[in-house]
Amino acid sequence: MSKIIAVTSGKGGTGKSTVCAGLGYTLAKQGHRTLIIELDFGLRCLDIMFGMENDIKYDLGDVLSGKKEPLEAVSQVPMAANLSILCAPKTLTSVNAEQIYDICRSIKKYFEYIIIDTGAGINSHVFDIVEQANLILVLSTPDQVCIRDAALMSDEFYNRGNKSQRLIINKVSKKVIGNALVANLDEIIDKVGVQLIGVIPDDFKMTVATGKGNPIPTDSEALRAFDAISKRLDGDFVPLTVKTS
Ligand SMILES: Nc1ncnc2c1ncn2[C@@H]1O[C@H](COP(=O)(O)OP(=O)(O)O)[C@@H](O)[C@H]1O
Ligand SMILES: [Mg+2]
Repeated sequence: MSKIIAVTSGKGGTGKSTVCAGLGYTLAKQGHRTLIIELDFGLRCLDIMFGMENDIKYDLGDVLSGKKEPLEAVSQVPMAANLSILCAPKTLTSVNAEQIYDICRSIKKYFEYIIIDTGAGINSHVFDIVEQANLILVLSTPDQVCIRDAALMSDEFYNRGNKSQRLIINKVSKKVIGNALVANLDEIIDKVGVQLIGVIPDDFKMTVATGKGNPIPTDSEALRAFDAISKRLDGDFVPLTVKTS
């Protein structure tokens, strides 16, 4: 049985695509057959994050139009043998939750993890899609607007009966150290009201890679944090990689 994980946040630019890429990569490196489905229509970026911008033959648009079967439209990622991606179309295409779940149903026997990058914005289509996931990863940065949006998202998921949620706090600055960092993280967890599964440092290597259009840096601190979260997803106990004392 594959596990469907939806990665969401209220605000754009919080790092959804980065988290999908980081978790997908580390899960694959840990030996799990993993697929990332990118739902950010018109804002494709996973191909660049995995250094395969010119190697994408088909995308989700080809599946939605019936031109290709889902398995024919996925691209294998050269950086990680167990990882495949189904890229977003470069143009805006309408999609509904049922179509996405038909795709997941038809390919879930080939993958242990299916990670869904829900893309930007809070709209009913995101809620419908996320509703059927086994686990919702709610993403926030320490930014107050982002925290409030994450809390609103999460409340709505709870109201709809989606209790399986975990919080990832991304872009945590190491300038806030020691007790101040713990207080800071505690406050975010309390405000969002979701159990924490991991903290990702604000990693300059990550920002530079995106800025230059390079693949995600696999030797970065952020990737170490993703590796720890991936192990927690698989049931292991792993301490936070961002030191809090
Ligand atoms: N942990 C991090 N450290 C540094 N930069 C990050 C981190 N996470 C994301 N970013 C940067 O933030 C920007 C937005 O990230 P992205 O994953 O595209 O967000 P979203 O998909 O939510 O819109 C990118 O430039 C990315 O490199
Ligand atoms: Mg994105």
